[in-house]
Amino acid sequence: MVHPTTAVAPGRDSLAGAIQPTARRWPAVQGIAYGGDYNPEQWPEATWAHDVALMAGAGVSMVTVGVFSWALLEPSPGTYEFGWLDRVMDLLAAHDIAVDLATATASPPPWFSRRQPESLPITRDGQRLWPGARQAFCPSSAAYRTASTALASSLATRYANHPALVMWHVNNEYGCHTCECFCDVSAAAFRRWLLDRYGDLGRLNEAWGTAFWSQHYYEWEEILPPRLAPAHGNPTQNLDWRRFSSDELLECFKSERDAVRKITPELPITTNFMGAFKPVDYFAWAREEDVVSNDHYLLGADRAGEVQLAMSADLVRSVGDGGPWILMEHSASAVNWQQRNLAKAPGQLRRNSLSHVARGADAVCFFQWRASRSGSEKFHSGMVPHAGTDTKVWREVAELGANLRALAEVAGSRVVCDTAIVWDWAAWWAVELDSHPSADVTYLALMRATYDALWELGVTVDFVRPDADLSAYRLVLVPSLYLVSDEAAANLTNYVEAGGHLVCNFFSGIVDVNDAVRLGGYPGAFRQLLGVRVEEFFPLPEGATVTLSDGSTGQVWTELLHPEGADVVATYADGPLPGAPAVTRHHYGQGVAHYVTTFRDVATNRRFLRAVCDEAGVDGPIIAAAGVEVVRRRAGAASYLFVINHTEQEAEVPASGHELLTGARIDRDLVVAAGGVAVVREDVHAIAATLGRG
Ligand code: GLA
Repeated sequence: MVHPTTAVAPGRDSLAGAIQPTARRWPAVQGIAYGGDYNPEQWPEATWAHDVALMAGAGVSMVTVGVFSWALLEPSPGTYEFGWLDRVMDLLAAHDIAVDLATATASPPPWFSRRQPESLPITRDGQRLWPGARQAFCPSSAAYRTASTALASSLATRYANHPALVMWHVNNEYGCHTCECFCDVSAAAFRRWLLDRYGDLGRLNEAWGTAFWSQHYYEWEEILPPRLAPAHGNPTQNLDWRRFSSDELLECFKSERDAVRKITPELPITTNFMGAFKPVDYFAWAREEDVVSNDHYLLGADRAGEVQLAMSADLVRSVGDGGPWILMEHSASAVNWQQRNLAKAPGQLRRNSLSHVARGADAVCFFQWRASRSGSEKFHSGMVPHAGTDTKVWREVAELGANLRALAEVAGSRVVCDTAIVWDWAAWWAVELDSHPSADVTYLALMRATYDALWELGVTVDFVRPDADLSAYRLVLVPSLYLVSDEAAANLTNYVEAGGHLVCNFFSGIVDVNDAVRLGGYPGAFRQLLGVRVEEFFPLPEGATVTLSDGSTGQVWTELLHPEGADVVATYADGPLPGAPAVTRHHYGQGVAHYVTTFRDVATNRRFLRAVCDEAGVDGPIIAAAGVEVVRRRAGAASYLFVINHTEQEAEVPASGHELLTGARIDRDLVVAAGGVAVVREDVHAIAATLGRG
């Protein structure tokens, strides 16, 4: 039974230091929020008082509670055990620590799966996924939606007026393990989604090109999810399935969101994203949230981890329209889910955290507060390690808390960029469908080639949808846009016509929104803009390279191109197309559009983008050594310069102002220790002098 909390808790007034009630949107906590996932249910209650004392000492201001608590909160259908959570909430409130309360629905309890076996997900090849891990639910399951929404409502009713509650954390990492389900219930939901999209079967048959391989549909019931089939499945069916699966998970989010919003309309609501996560279209999702939040973990196999981190942060800021966002999870040191889980070097925790802040985060949180003793994540680091507080990790956690307090005034400021990379989930889904000219054309590899080069040049970027307003940008990069709508193609064309600079890579503009090829020569949608006509693709064998006339090399792709207005900048010197144009440049309207037909080597790509940035008049931040990350956040006349030194040498950067972490006055030369970080509130007159790339 749900009943109001009987706990004695201080009123919101007594929390005035940390908690700002009522604004529907973030910020819910003053300054830069600091904390992590707190799972006190995994520990004896005697540990809790110690936890909150440590939290208070480290400057923790917000924790996420209850993410995986469903089984303990609802031991049997409709029966709730809130007592332990009441005590946790009260304890946190008493220590001025705000709570981002989870709706606790990410992992249905065993009793639920036993009673509702049809709610368990089915894979493409017909395997049922059983309980015993987490996220074992079909996104279209009515029983799951009903039960999860009921739990969310009960939690909201219970804690609506609790002084610790400042925001809602709906579910957890939607799609992380189960992003699609191929069961019959999902099949029916897919049909409803298709009916909504196409209106009638005639349009669907047309859009899916079902004249091919005898796939014409006469009845809606004939349509299935793209289950395991004898050969390559219908590409448009697969593409629509991706769209549907993202939308279907979003419906799960919306039903819980609406349930808690009804009861606590003043509280912000989020769900944690996973950066460049393929299954879920975060541009669409972000519109449904009050504030976006992100989880980011370094991949040991990615040697440019700080660049991958930066891209995730920039992407999440961008899907949230550039507003402040929450770093909901990252790790204090190693994770547990990679083949080799690398511990963070001394100082890396701080650099990683402050890179996120530099790129717009107004909250820094970890998974998780205390490293677990049991369960599959017991070797995942926590803010409090197994070894306790006499540790590198704990000392760095406490130091970071002090740093974030010193950066409080940065909260609310924004990253302002004049360079954008076009990002589109449908284009990602479509370009990686099977039966394409080359399996080596992968979305993230192309994105990273462009993003990494710009990171090294010190150019901070936004990510934009292809149909976004681009007028604020001097330079727009299109690393991969195989699928593009007519409207988005016109948008990019108009941008250049009006004076914009644009770089487009091969295999872009190829198909329309239904994955139908644009006829008359590639790259169909961008032929006029780029001033070229491509008659045939010549992808390269695995690992093969070609030489270009400028001495650079290319991989993966070449194509037979005829200029139709564009100037040829470089040709192929060897490979399948010696003498054919490889790189072109087209003056179009008031602007310039570059086209690159192969995957160029890193140094050439960087040199090329450097020249393009110069030509477009892009503002770089400050000339810094390789491996030194420099980013600005601004608020009105105030400007904050973040310098993160990822190298093992001291770095010097021109800057004048007040260094917030040490309180030092900086006149002209900022020295940042090897592996160190500095944040300077810049003197206004000094900013103009340091802008511009050298
Ligand atoms: C994800 C989840 C967390 C935890 C971490 C471990 O981000 O949201 O619950 O499993 O991974 O890295």
